[in-house]
Amino acid sequence: MVRADTAVCCLIGHPVGHSLSPLVHNAGYEALGLNFVYLAFDVTEIKLAMDGMRGLGIRGAGITIPHKIAVMKYLDEVDSLAREIGSVNTVINEGSHLRGLNTDYDGAFKALEEITPVEGKRAVLLGAGGTALTLATGLKRKGAYLTILNRTREKAAGLAERVGADAYGGLDDLAAISSADILVNTTSVGMWPETGETLVPRELLHPGLTVFDVVYNPLRTRLTAEAEAAGGKIVHGYKMLLYQAVVQFELFTGHKAPAGRMEEVLVGALEGRR
Ligand code: ATR
Repeated sequence: MVRADTAVCCLIGHPVGHSLSPLVHNAGYEALGLNFVYLAFDVTEIKLAMDGMRGLGIRGAGITIPHKIAVMKYLDEVDSLAREIGSVNTVINEGSHLRGLNTDYDGAFKALEEITPVEGKRAVLLGAGGTALTLATGLKRKGAYLTILNRTREKAAGLAERVGADAYGGLDDLAAISSADILVNTTSVGMWPETGETLVPRELLHPGLTVFDVVYNPLRTRLTAEAEAAGGKIVHGYKMLLYQAVVQFELFTGHKAPAGRMEEVLVGALEGRR
């Protein structure tokens, strides 16, 4: 029940109508009986939203497209990792002091590292966009030998230089996967409705490979299904979504998140979408 003293958290983006964040966070509050509510605001002027957050005492905000970069200049402090990645997806309001963080990074590595360690592993990353930057930064920080492959080779080169990757190439260099320990797909290939698509020929998959596909719609992609059939381990994309919300929840409320309940609600909603 929303009351006069209910703490408010929110999502800020444009558009936000299809976001599952309110559902997942509110299910968590309800499970723990917390006097919190999570709303979604469709915002075009991010500066005004940050002023509003201070003025209204909004406890925490998830930041999504198109504000993840622009929001940084309206904050009092940006966490060093978020600065390195160049994007903020979470803002915490500590007595009008706004601090920006990136829980996409935390979510991605919590999901990956519950399946495999990263240090010393040979990792191949597909893609060179924003999600690729987040994953590539972590893979290098955590001591992987990193190869970045992308359809547009020059973008792979640019990302490789930025994060200090060990090698890069185009999609004609996919053979690197056959000797890799970790494969991360950050491209949208395989996403609904093109669920029959994959960038990775089946014969390159093998039992020693952990495949993390950031695509979460469908929950099970052709790539993860084929990786599993080849005897490898898999990390589903929705886990990144879930764990970034879990980290936000804990930052906003100070309570350990009911991850099981949040997962149930997230998976149920993703399944119900089609
Ligand atoms: P995000 O921020 O989610 O990472 P993005 O910045 O749009 O999204 O990046 C999308 C990535 O998916 C890019 O690496 C893109 O490759 P290009 O740099 O060549 O455009 C990749 N991608 C998208 N569709 C693809 C396809 N059909 N085949 C191969 N790569 C694809």
